[in-house]
Amino acid sequence: MIADTEAHIDEVIEKYSKYVNPGLTKLLQFGGFGDVEMEALGCEVTLASGTTCLDFLGGYGVFALGHRNPRVVEAVHRQLDRMPLSTRAFFHEPQAILSEMLAKCTPGNLTYSFYSNSGAEAVEAALKFARAATGRTEFISTEGAYHGKSLGALSVTGRQKYRLPFEPLIPGVSFVPYNSADAINEQIGANTAAVIIETVQGEGGIIPALPGYISDIRDICSKNGSLLIVDEVQTGLGRTGLMWGVDHDGVVPDIMTMAKALGGGVMPIGATITTPEVWEGVFRENPYIHTSTFGGNPMACAAAIAALQIIQEDNLSQAAFLMGSRLISGLKNVQALVGESIKEVRGQGLMIGVEFSIQDVAELTINGMARRGVIAGYTLNNPRVIRFEPPLIVSEEQIDAAVNIFSESALEAVEMLEGIESI
Ligand SMILES: Cc1ncc(COP(=O)(O)O)c(C=O)c1O
Repeated sequence: MIADTEAHIDEVIEKYSKYVNPGLTKLLQFGGFGDVEMEALGCEVTLASGTTCLDFLGGYGVFALGHRNPRVVEAVHRQLDRMPLSTRAFFHEPQAILSEMLAKCTPGNLTYSFYSNSGAEAVEAALKFARAATGRTEFISTEGAYHGKSLGALSVTGRQKYRLPFEPLIPGVSFVPYNSADAINEQIGANTAAVIIETVQGEGGIIPALPGYISDIRDICSKNGSLLIVDEVQTGLGRTGLMWGVDHDGVVPDIMTMAKALGGGVMPIGATITTPEVWEGVFRENPYIHTSTFGGNPMACAAAIAALQIIQEDNLSQAAFLMGSRLISGLKNVQALVGESIKEVRGQGLMIGVEFSIQDVAELTINGMARRGVIAGYTLNNPRVIRFEPPLIVSEEQIDAAVNIFSESALEAVEMLEGIESI
């Protein structure tokens, strides 16, 4: 690396350390990410050092279409040149078109969309809507669940470590084990506004719902007059091999949240879509009861329209299924090679997790992969799990290359740790 480049990287990292977040700066450097990203296209990211990386983290699901998909970029450019943000006094066409598309591509009678700018905001809206529509106040969530870090979303996020410093959060939230419909049945009561659930627990360690689990929850909610909120912020838009995670069980939620991939990897946008009954209960008396200044702005909607078109026209759900099968079987071969340090390889579509027995081995493996040019990361609520969420446009060759690098890195990590233990 030439001296100027090295100085530039150091300068950027020093500013992060001084003015952004010193702890995070150390963590990223320790993880092997001590470089500066410069540009990206498809599945590849180019760093200031000149290295090109394969992005198998995929922005935790943001980059379903890869980086800088040309059709999304063009749609956003077109809108940028006309009217990027809305007056919020008049109607605008991108929001009208996007809302019709979402109503048509989501299950059942999910109809009305509220727009925000992130996953947490989409969840905030869902929780508020559930309370207003039912007149009830309590929620049931699951242990290990991740729904975001704003106060409401954090209240239903199932990891004590993130909640504790901010308590008291919203009252009346109980957590039950994931994949047990019986536990929800026992917990649900006359004041339960909603059950909130992911169809694959993402940050909880990539844990797919067992077949029938989501439809059992649907039945339990319907019997008890509670709403079903399905959080598809990470699973939605093809990631799991079908358009929506709920499609694996043929379930229609009362409220569904989405974000991440919705902006086509170019713009931030979140959406909360509800049935007409729920919408009536929330907005009937005051259409301004819940709002967001930037939510559903024309540029974000233009990106989302293009993203939805591409996902449907290019059948990217099917691509996720096929490439996911290849990736899972490659990772299982590595598991056989590495032995008991890898506990399990699991996932659905291109949302795949590898659970290690020891957190240090997972961390060293991520570091080794970064050094060899593959971006991976662990799941927030379970750091023993390395997640693989590459763009849905990933090629067979890129999958095979990433599996080889994972194999080398995991073997190296196990060896290094054995070396340390024997000292
Ligand atoms: C299922 C789920 N819900 C909500 C969120 C929060 O999204 P954001 O980080 O955009 O606020 C996430 C983020 O990882 C998520 O995976």
